[in-house]
Amino acid sequence: MIIGFIGDIVGRPGRKIIKENLSKLRVEFNIDFIVANGENASHGFGLTTKNCDELLKSGIDIITGGNHSFDKRADMEALLKTDSVLRPDNYPLGVSGSGLAIKEVNGEKIAVLNLMGQYGMPIVENPFNWAKEKITYIQEQNVKNIIIDFHAEATSEKRVIMMMFKGIVSSIFGTHTHVGTDDLTICEGTSYVSDVGLTGCRDNVIGMDSTVPIKKATTGLGGHFDVPNNCKSILQLIVVYLNDGKAIDAFKIKVYDNGQRVITKAFIEK
Ligand code: FE2
Repeated sequence: MIIGFIGDIVGRPGRKIIKENLSKLRVEFNIDFIVANGENASHGFGLTTKNCDELLKSGIDIITGGNHSFDKRADMEALLKTDSVLRPDNYPLGVSGSGLAIKEVNGEKIAVLNLMGQYGMPIVENPFNWAKEKITYIQEQNVKNIIIDFHAEATSEKRVIMMMFKGIVSSIFGTHTHVGTDDLTICEGTSYVSDVGLTGCRDNVIGMDSTVPIKKATTGLGGHFDVPNNCKSILQLIVVYLNDGKAIDAFKIKVYDNGQRVITKAFIEK
């Protein structure tokens, strides 16, 4: 099975570059199943039903979330009733929806588990203990292809998840920081990257117009972050080849809005 993963889609520029490229990439690389983090897809904050529909039609199968999952609250409550949208699974009990989906793709089962870290994030249950329990449950369902979107600020938390679950799950994708990291690796059959990086505007501050972030940094006075209408954009996609639940090869493709592409192969630990 070949899977694709897209990090945080930020606003209209992110949705636009996906609409223009993803279906073609899916065919070109024979990708069977694509997961994307959509918590910033609607003007940087949350996900509307309309934008979700657009992303699913563009070739995404499952949309994950994070600390902004509930920013468009009414829409998200409705979306979480479908089987295509997740929110971090370790939100406290009583929060709507789920962070686990088990799907069948070409006769094989695949589980997507969405978790959120604790550092600098809203209150959630301990993601590490939560993951242990959930992965045991997934294995009991005879699912070999297990992928995790770990939405976290701290790279150290992401590395803990990697060290706990290498050789156990198929792929671990870090999201949330919007800046892609250069550590795509396969270790003991598990692919790992600390952060996939955003899909959206690339010439500003984490996909947002830089005016307010600069004002905040220099004066301490805040304001509302906005996704720019016009910007240079990028689509960042990780492609992983899975065999019997083990990652055997992976690469990252960056597609720029001028058509330029940069492909980086994963380092495979022997
Ligand atoms: Fe986030």
